[in-house]
Amino acid sequence: MRKTILALALLALPVAATAQTKIAATPAMGWNSWNHFAKRVTDKDVRTAADELVSTGMKDAGYIYVNIDDAWQGKRDSSGNIVPNSKFPDMKALADYVHSKGLKIGIYSGPGPQTCGGYEGSYQHEEQDAKMYAQWGIDYLKYDLCSYHKIMQQEAPGDQVKQYQMMHAAYEKMHKALQATGRPIYFSLCQYGWDSVWKWGPTVGGNSWRTTDDIQDNYMSMSNIGFSQAGLSKYAAPGHWNDPDMLEVGNGKMNGNEYRTHMSLWAILAAPLLAGNDLSKMSAETKSILMNKEVIAIDQDPLGKQGDRVSAEGPFEVWSKPLKDGSIAVGLFNRGHDAEQMSLPLQKLGLSAGSKIHNVWNPTDSGHGPWMVPEHGVVLLVIKK
Ligand code: GLA
Repeated sequence: MRKTILALALLALPVAATAQTKIAATPAMGWNSWNHFAKRVTDKDVRTAADELVSTGMKDAGYIYVNIDDAWQGKRDSSGNIVPNSKFPDMKALADYVHSKGLKIGIYSGPGPQTCGGYEGSYQHEEQDAKMYAQWGIDYLKYDLCSYHKIMQQEAPGDQVKQYQMMHAAYEKMHKALQATGRPIYFSLCQYGWDSVWKWGPTVGGNSWRTTDDIQDNYMSMSNIGFSQAGLSKYAAPGHWNDPDMLEVGNGKMNGNEYRTHMSLWAILAAPLLAGNDLSKMSAETKSILMNKEVIAIDQDPLGKQGDRVSAEGPFEVWSKPLKDGSIAVGLFNRGHDAEQMSLPLQKLGLSAGSKIHNVWNPTDSGHGPWMVPEHGVVLLVIKK
């Protein structure tokens, strides 16, 4: 009997691992409502986003998820079922609409009684909520710690270890509830990187985990987040990824060079690419950044290895990411206030002077550098060893 149980347990392990890996074999790509619409988001905005993903070519470029962030929730009915607020008259119909476009739909909640925006959370309703999401046809859940932090503090005052155990358990609980529905639902952990989430995120079923506080649409915020990811590459793999937060590309407060840095760095980081702009008002430049096929291919490379920092000297940083075909993506980043020349640190990258170099944002350039890198800008290269 014991042997049978053991054999069954061993059989169950790889199956569970495969399901989790399959759902996020490469980092998730899609759109999320928060960065542009915040709490104003409506059913109509989400439908429009789905329409625009298709009509702009974003869907064909790989942006598949349409994720509703905070502010869709109403109260619970007398049986405790979560009911959307008046901005979302019929969640099932919305999910059907998104699916009819060949896209997937995501939703947002958290383990606390309230979400960050003060809306109803899943506290003590985890199974019920997971079932409801599955009934609606939800494919992705972003689960945001927020007010559960207060519960942790109340239940284990001053005991950080216990509080963190509670946090892990809260995520595991929702993971199990999602699994129990039988519907594959991508599980996105959002707790701002606390307790080095990259070390335990996969064990509680996370397909990705936020590594930092919220991004804002300015160079300081974006670059502080992006460049702080050094050293985290070993924690990412197919099925579970570091998430330095959603994209701000196209929201208007950074210039083209800064947005190209944002997109290049996120691709080298194998980060989820969740556009956060108004898709119905994209400039040609925004489209060219979000839909650059080669940058997306770096992010989505099937080898599934996150890149990392190679060197940092003053305002200059060099990052690289190994790719499946044996080549490497290299970003030469200038964090300074003046355009400056940068060269490839050939030795550090294990390259010879004769390596074949492709300049991603400037494909007509066939030089071997040095390159003039603009203020806050990047030169992104794919190099055959
Ligand atoms: C937190 C998250 C954000 C967003 C908001 C919504 O701040 O980190 O990404 O989901 O909550 O209230």
